Amino acid sequence: MYQEIDLNKIDIHAEPPVEEPARQYYFMARCKEWVKDFEQKNGRLPSFCVTTFGCQMNARDSEKLRGILKEIGYVEEAEDKADFVIYNTCTVRENANTRVYGRLGQLKPLKKKNPHMMIGLCGCMMQEPEVVEKLKKSYRFVDIIFGTHNIYKFAELVATRLESERMVIDIWKNTDKIVENLPNQRKYSFKSGINIMFGCNNFCSYCIVPYVRGRERSRDPQAIIQEIRRLVADGVSEVMLLGQNVNSYGKTLNTPMTFAKLLREIEKIDGLLRIRFMTSHPKDLSDELIEVMGNSQKICKHLHLPVQSGSTDILAKMNRRYTKEQYLELVEKLRKAVPDISLTTDIIVGFPGETEADFEETLDVVRKVRYDSAFTFIYSKRTGTPAAVMENQVSEEVIKNRFDRLLREVQTIAAEACAVHEGTVQEVLVEDICSHDPKMVTGRLGNNLLVHFYGGQELIGQYVEVKLTECRGFYYIGEMAGKAS
Ligand code: SAH
Ligand code: SF4
Ligand code: F3S
Repeated sequence: MYQEIDLNKIDIHAEPPVEEPARQYYFMARCKEWVKDFEQKNGRLPSFCVTTFGCQMNARDSEKLRGILKEIGYVEEAEDKADFVIYNTCTVRENANTRVYGRLGQLKPLKKKNPHMMIGLCGCMMQEPEVVEKLKKSYRFVDIIFGTHNIYKFAELVATRLESERMVIDIWKNTDKIVENLPNQRKYSFKSGINIMFGCNNFCSYCIVPYVRGRERSRDPQAIIQEIRRLVADGVSEVMLLGQNVNSYGKTLNTPMTFAKLLREIEKIDGLLRIRFMTSHPKDLSDELIEVMGNSQKICKHLHLPVQSGSTDILAKMNRRYTKEQYLELVEKLRKAVPDISLTTDIIVGFPGETEADFEETLDVVRKVRYDSAFTFIYSKRTGTPAAVMENQVSEEVIKNRFDRLLREVQTIAAEACAVHEGTVQEVLVEDICSHDPKMVTGRLGNNLLVHFYGGQELIGQYVEVKLTECRGFYYIGEMAGKAS
């Protein structure tokens, strides 16, 4: 994690250091000089807004961008007023790209009005060559474009842009580098995401992530533990360990280590109260991990276990490397070891070649597992993935019909699964003021469900006992029953 460093002591007229992260501190110091200059000329500090699309990996990356900008001296501002707007993009489905182009179109007139304004684009979408070509051609007003592998170089790229006034584009195809000790600005003071690994080696046939996030690499366990210790000292009590496939953590380390072993080590950290992780690939979910989950006091009783499809044929075409039966066995084992575990999943509808019978298998899994919630996606063709050129792409009409049926099934079951806790008293971590009623706060149960109850700002970050009085489908209304012990 970030060690406080005095940027004012860095000689910005010397040659930049070659080593990381010293090189980035040097560029932060240079940017800071520019910010001072801006302040003198304009009588105010420059402002920024980072908007995140996509998954929690991106959310964590955005915290790193925010950390660097704050260190330089920028202040956070709403997007329509900010001097520096950054979109951290996702490309997992086609509509993710469409949204970014739409938003960019809206930024153009803002940039015309504000001569200071800069626009930065980063994240997964930038790893696609045709996207960068399109931006170069039709979106010349963008200032900085970089990808997922060199996000740690953000300060250097900003410095280059501030000092050169030209479009800065820096995209790497891949990397094996992990740069530690850079600043980051957490969204919540009491909980934090932690990257434990980067990239993905699974190449599920529909998925673009391995192409835009590169090969799987795990962070050194000591670096992870040290980061968590520092976070705990800084007020964090809940961590979310992040990776595209956390169950294969440690395989690429010089001294290989299992994810279960890492969890055991993290569990020992005093002051840490809740451990979450995502995402778990079913094919790598070991008995050792199930045992650790069963015996843990801190690992939350919630597992996100994407099934994608219930049909063994489709799963094979998806290159998921498990069968319907293996998945269901896994669920059974988990429920035995952790009886009240909440299970959530991702499901894709309309993968090429999906027949009505295949789809029925998916419904069957949904009915058997009874997920607490499920993210359902319409299959989106991603150019460059094997599935994009498969025959028998399913028609839109058929997909729409299946999607609606799936959603109904998932929602009915989830509402029933959620309601079983009605009337119980549970420990929740209070996260925010409720977005619908400012007299209420929103807390999260260990099993990931949300509960809204009357309470004030002072409860944020605290653990309290809450009686779940009324289930409203996917969340609860509750009453505070006391402070947690
Ligand atoms: N690494 C995670 C998921 C990453 S992407 C995992 O393996 O589960 C998040 C979800 O997006 C996936 O679980 C999948 O359900 C969905 N997804 C990925 N590619 C997709 C595509 N081409 N079309 C529709 N949904 C997709
Ligand atoms: Fe994509 Fe599969 Fe990797 Fe998840 S495990 S990121 S779905 S390739
Ligand atoms: Fe999207 Fe990249 Fe995450 S493609 S889902 S932001 S890894």
